[in-house]
Amino acid sequence: MRKIAIFYFSGTGNTEFIAKLIRNNMINLSINLSIDLYRVEDILNNDIEVDIYNYDIIGIGAPSYGFNPPKIIIDFCKNLIKVNHVKVFLFLTCAAPCYLNNVAFFGIKRILKRKGYEVIYEKVICMPANILLKYDDSIIKRLYDSAVERVKIMTKDILGNTVKVRNDHFIPYLFRWLLILLVRLAIKTVPLDFIVGKACNECMKCIRICPRKNIYFKRKIKHGLKCEACYRCVYGCPQRAIKGRLYNIAIHKEGYDIEGIFEKCKDIDTKKPLKGIYKTFESYFNSLS
Ligand SMILES: Cc1cc2nc3c(=O)[nH]c(=O)nc-3n(C[C@H](O)[C@H](O)[C@H](O)COP(=O)(O)O)c2cc1C
Repeated sequence: MRKIAIFYFSGTGNTEFIAKLIRNNMINLSINLSIDLYRVEDILNNDIEVDIYNYDIIGIGAPSYGFNPPKIIIDFCKNLIKVNHVKVFLFLTCAAPCYLNNVAFFGIKRILKRKGYEVIYEKVICMPANILLKYDDSIIKRLYDSAVERVKIMTKDILGNTVKVRNDHFIPYLFRWLLILLVRLAIKTVPLDFIVGKACNECMKCIRICPRKNIYFKRKIKHGLKCEACYRCVYGCPQRAIKGRLYNIAIHKEGYDIEGIFEKCKDIDTKKPLKGIYKTFESYFNSLS
């Protein structure tokens, strides 16, 4: 029996959706397989020890935050035990079909290599944007179809021992480092921007769901300094009381629930030609590699 562990962080559900899709696809492909899914926050917050040697392959998944992995994923990778050659596949979800998102793998791969892990596969999967833009329904449906196809190929490759890893050449990214640095800096300011409005009824849900245990109650709900800027508290608040001062415009007013978003778009016609900013999706939709 082959055993696989998938570790993931997901602020608002996109990466979790993909982690579950990978698990379901793998189970459909092979009966002689057992797969364990772990949320990275559960491991870090509860000091859970997972015996990596129990597994033949491990997967690690995360969203892209400013072309960077979330800090919690870096901490998780740094906390992993040193091993003698364990295979790893990586997956990253993002909102823009932009190859700069591949930069997010660089740091993770370096840490894993130092610890004796061999990255055998990496995949970027574009999902609906959880902040800023609300994509057109036909784009959401195409993102769904393409995620399903990509995961199918990915799981077949991984179980068939196909290796697909990018060479980390910095040169193509060289002239974009300034852009990458600016975006990363902007993201660091997101936590400072959160305010808890009068609608808050102190139900404490945000405290319970924060993956970093960074929200506390001291006369009112407050955010500490360990925020991942994942927006789980914003979309998880039943009163929609958590807002941004400057960045409020980035928050989807109707909330963010990926299962519901995909469900709503499942019968949408995808034949509409791509126009305007959606033209940037053209090569992403046309190639599944
Ligand atoms: C603070 C923040 C920064 C983000 N930065 C990027 C980015 O640099 N590139 C990108 O394509 N998407 C970016 N996104 C979008 C998310 O990566 C994308 O929606 C992801 O699938 C969310 O995954 P999750 O629901 O598992 O948290 C960002 C989202 C947030 C909240």
